[in-house]
Amino acid sequence: MKTQPKILNWKFPKFDSNGMTQWFWMCQHHKNLILGNYIDIGAFTYINALYGITLGDYVQIGSHCSIYSVSTIDKKKGPVYVGQYAKIGTHSTVMPGIKIGKHALIGAYSFVNKNIPDGVLAFGIPIRVVRKLTEEELSIHRDEYSIL
Ligand SMILES: CC(C)(COP(=O)(O)OP(=O)(O)OC[C@H]1O[C@@H](n2cnc3c(N)ncnc32)[C@H](O)[C@@H]1OP(=O)(O)O)[C@@H](O)C(=O)NCCC(=O)NCCS
Repeated sequence: MKTQPKILNWKFPKFDSNGMTQWFWMCQHHKNLILGNYIDIGAFTYINALYGITLGDYVQIGSHCSIYSVSTIDKKKGPVYVGQYAKIGTHSTVMPGIKIGKHALIGAYSFVNKNIPDGVLAFGIPIRVVRKLTEEELSIHRDEYSIL
């Protein structure tokens, strides 16, 4: 039997009036944030959900990331979707309108300005798909969270 104590203790985040959570990541317009279960977001990550952000179950986001559904500097806007089990490395930026597929693994310090398919390793500024993840890597993702 596999167990994942971190998941068993998982609690839905609470937002204060500034959008700050108890784990020191924050979301503006959090009423437009759709969160799956068991998401894990590192401290100092900033999410702007004005036009909608969806994070699927088990999504992991490192510390110091930025996820924008609106970017005032270059006047871009659009909902962002991150599929189940996707992982986003520390210090990455996800731009408005982007879809990141299920199980995608985004390397640290990436600038995600194009859609990323399911089950690939991608990183860089701008982001490039490096390769498909192997079946073994995908099964490790699933096993990490298996509580059966
Ligand atoms: C993307 C990642 C998963 C790849 O790990 P890996 O498979 O062990 O890859 P390696 O370290 O063997 O690197 C392979 C090559 O890709 C390069 N590379 C790895 N990650 C990179 C990144 N984020 N950006 C740019 N290049 C990267 C390496 O420099 C190396 O290049 P080389 O072959 O020219 O030497 C990992 O580097 C990463 O970014 N992890 C995120 C960790 C993180 O953010 N943790 C904190 C939150 S929990």
